[in-house]
Amino acid sequence: MPFLKDYLNLSIEAAHIAGEIQKRSFGRTIRVDFKGPKDLVTEVDQQCEEAILKHITKTYPDHNILSEEGGAFQSDSPFRWIIDPLDGTTNYAHGYPFFCVSIALEQDEEIILGIAYNPMMNELFTAIKGEGSFLNGTPIHVSGTDKLEHALLATGRLTRKKENMDVHFLQFRRLAMNAQATRRDGSAVLDLCYVAAGRFDGFWESGLNPWDSAAGSIIIKESGGEITNFTGRPFNPFFPELLASNGALHQLIMEILNIA
Ligand code: 2AM
Ligand code: CA
Repeated sequence: MPFLKDYLNLSIEAAHIAGEIQKRSFGRTIRVDFKGPKDLVTEVDQQCEEAILKHITKTYPDHNILSEEGGAFQSDSPFRWIIDPLDGTTNYAHGYPFFCVSIALEQDEEIILGIAYNPMMNELFTAIKGEGSFLNGTPIHVSGTDKLEHALLATGRLTRKKENMDVHFLQFRRLAMNAQATRRDGSAVLDLCYVAAGRFDGFWESGLNPWDSAAGSIIIKESGGEITNFTGRPFNPFFPELLASNGALHQLIMEILNIA
């Protein structure tokens, strides 16, 4: 039976392979297809997925796989890898260097490790359950900010579902007016890691998929942060909305999100 460190090392190897592919093609003309009107997939997403799955299944052919670009395998193994081969595809396609490879591993539906690798900045965020979170091997912690007017907050797409747009803009407006500043950087996984590292004090988004949040969620928890849905229920990667924070600001941000 392998140790968690073995799974971690394998996922880091896979992320480095994919990161090299991303760096090699960055800024070059690449093929872009559309999964939906605003939902891109590039040939690099697909090449990265193929390379990651090849690397993982070579060692663990019986593990379940859930990966954004359709790579799926179902078995009765208790393990499931949840993979975003390129989180921040829109950024990538525009030559905006903020994206990452994201890999999480579940055992019996509990996330036991997560990593995110930003190849442009050579930043590797890692977490194993119960062992803390790390950036390039150094422990990271959420910020101690306890006043919203001192907080740097981040969010993602506000326009995902037309029927919810007014609510999302209202939430954004309220938080933007109360916080020191807000950012929308286009990679949910990196946004979560930035909260874990104390760069952001909070992050909220709705309309996410499990591969956009699985790895980041354990990195947040292991760095001392909090992650729930907008009403404080425990995080579930299959539930599309999430609020992550340094803990100190969680209740306050939640109250603002929920003003009727
Ligand atoms: P992606 O780059 O892997 O698609 C940005 O707010 C976050 O939303 C990113 O993590 C991005 O992941 C995801 N995202 C972007 N466009 C999306 C879409 N059309 N549907 C679902 N998720 C999307
Ligand atoms: Ca993706």
